[in-house]
Amino acid sequence: MTHDRPLAMVTGGSSGIGLELARELAGRGHDVAISGQSGRVHDSAKELEALGVDAYPFQADASTYDGVEAFWTFVADLGRPVEVACLNVGIGVGGAGFADTDLADEFRMIAINCTGLVHTAKRVTHAMLAQGRGRILIVSSISASTPTPYETVYGPTKAFGFSFAESLREELRGSGITVTALLPGATDSEFHANAGMGNTRFGDNSWKNDKRLVGRQGIDALFAGDDHVVGGDEATKQAFLDNRATSEPEKAARQGAQARPAG
Ligand SMILES: NC(=O)c1ccc[n+]([C@@H]2O[C@H](COP(=O)([O-])OP(=O)(O)OC[C@H]3O[C@@H](n4cnc5c(N)ncnc54)[C@H](OP(=O)(O)O)[C@@H]3O)[C@@H](O)[C@H]2O)c1
Repeated sequence: MTHDRPLAMVTGGSSGIGLELARELAGRGHDVAISGQSGRVHDSAKELEALGVDAYPFQADASTYDGVEAFWTFVADLGRPVEVACLNVGIGVGGAGFADTDLADEFRMIAINCTGLVHTAKRVTHAMLAQGRGRILIVSSISASTPTPYETVYGPTKAFGFSFAESLREELRGSGITVTALLPGATDSEFHANAGMGNTRFGDNSWKNDKRLVGRQGIDALFAGDDHVVGGDEATKQAFLDNRATSEPEKAARQGAQARPAG
């Protein structure tokens, strides 16, 4: 069976930034395979199909080897070239200092944000090398550019993703495969609530970047072949530039003041 539309995949595409990336790709004529942890991935696929494309939902736990492998196998079994891969799934752990957060939660976050990222990227890289082309988007964070007190382990997982993306991009130069990092600033998804940060400034979504804007910027940068893009408004982009020129202790103090739990 032949397909007119290119195929894209988005991990964590059932809500938040991932769903916006999937929406953008659908709007640009891509069929989309999306993964999610909960059953709502099926509803999200229906939303995408309403945009006139085929959507392929898959429910799996991205914190386990088997869950990551199962989504990749699901995509590979579609039997089509994967033209775009958005490695987006990620969680946070915050709302308390490192002494009080749960080690199991942090190991789970590392499993999703780092181990799972490497796992999916390995499969995607091999598949795209075999087909001689492809575009990869790795969702990092502006947190990659600063220490993140009260999300003490989260920031380093995102710095891992950014550095990994830049290295992979260089290795794949000339292969027909591009790698782009998306670094969103604070964005109005369920992320901070899920990270246990309802008791911080990040508990309020009203001041954050619009996830639709972040999704559009990410996909624009992906198709432009940019090495990275900061997701969000002009102030967010400026904050990233400022971070690059600011000392680590100074940034740690500023970030800590913002993410410290109330009370
Ligand atoms: N929001 C921000 O302020 C912000 C800022 C910078 C970077 N980021 C990054 O952006 C990415 C997306 O975050 P978001 O803001 O869109 O978060 P979100 O609203 O919490 O959405 C997370 C997505 O990942 C899925 N997911 C979570 N745990 C999973 C698991 N164990 N297995 C499979 N799927 C799982 C969720 O599935 P369900 O829908 O089924 O729960 C959902 O689709 C993350 O990598 C995050 O680090 C976010």
